[in-house]
Amino acid sequence: MSQHDPEPLTTFVVAVDGPAASGKGTIAKQLGEAFDLPVLDTGLLYRCVGMAMLQARENLDDHEAATAAAALITADQLENPDLRTRKAGEAASRVAVHPRVRGALWDFQRTFARQDGGAILDGRDIGTVIVPDAPAKLFVTARPEVRAERRWKQLKAAGERVSLKTVLADIRRRDERDGEREAAPMRPAPDATLLDTSEMSISQAADAARRIVEAARARWMSS
Ligand code: DC
Repeated sequence: MSQHDPEPLTTFVVAVDGPAASGKGTIAKQLGEAFDLPVLDTGLLYRCVGMAMLQARENLDDHEAATAAAALITADQLENPDLRTRKAGEAASRVAVHPRVRGALWDFQRTFARQDGGAILDGRDIGTVIVPDAPAKLFVTARPEVRAERRWKQLKAAGERVSLKTVLADIRRRDERDGEREAAPMRPAPDATLLDTSEMSISQAADAARRIVEAARARWMSS
C-alpha cells in the first residue's frame, strides 16, 4: 500500500473479501440491510476502469492510460448494468494489476469507509490494504466449481451465452491473476474470519456472516 490514512478509524466498518463469485457481493448486501449500513462493491470501480479502457480501445496493459481512466471514476458511473458482464470482469482483473490504478482508487474507497455511521466494502484487498483497521473482516470462499456454476447461472439469467466450462476457466484464470499479482494480491487478512460457502445456501451463508459481524460489533462496542 502506498497510501496511509493518518486519521484512526472511529466507525464500524465491515470488510468482505473473497474471490470471484464466492457470494461476497450478496453477503455484503444482506449485511447492509441487517446492520443498516451503506455498501460499496469495490469490484465495480475496477470494472469501470476496465470498461472505460475497452471503450477507448486502449491496451489494458497500459498502466498510464488505466491510471488516467481510474482518476476519472465517479459514483454515478457505478450504476451502469454493463459493468456486470463477463467482459467487464475480465478487463477489471487486468487493470487491477497496476499499482497506480489501485492507488488512484484508494481515496474513493477510504472516503466511503470513513463515512459517519459506518460502512461495508466488498472486494479483494479491503481487509488487507483499504481498511486494515476495520473492526469486522470476512473472507468468503467457495470451491471453484461451485463458484463457476453460480456465475454461469447469473450470466445466463442476464442473457449471456457462455458455457459452464468457459466460466470455470475464467474463474481459475482470475483467481490466479488476482491472487498472484504483486500489488495488493487477494489474501485473507490475518484477522479475517474465513467463511466457506461451498455447501451453503445463500440464506445460510448470509446468516453465518451476520453472526460473525454481530460478534465483531459486540467486541468493537465494548472496546
Ligand atoms: O468482485 P469483482 O468480480 O466485481 O471484481 C472484478 C475484478 O476487479 C477482480 O477480478 C479483481 C479486481 N478487484 C480488485 O483487484 N480489488 C478489489 N477490491 C475489487 C476487485
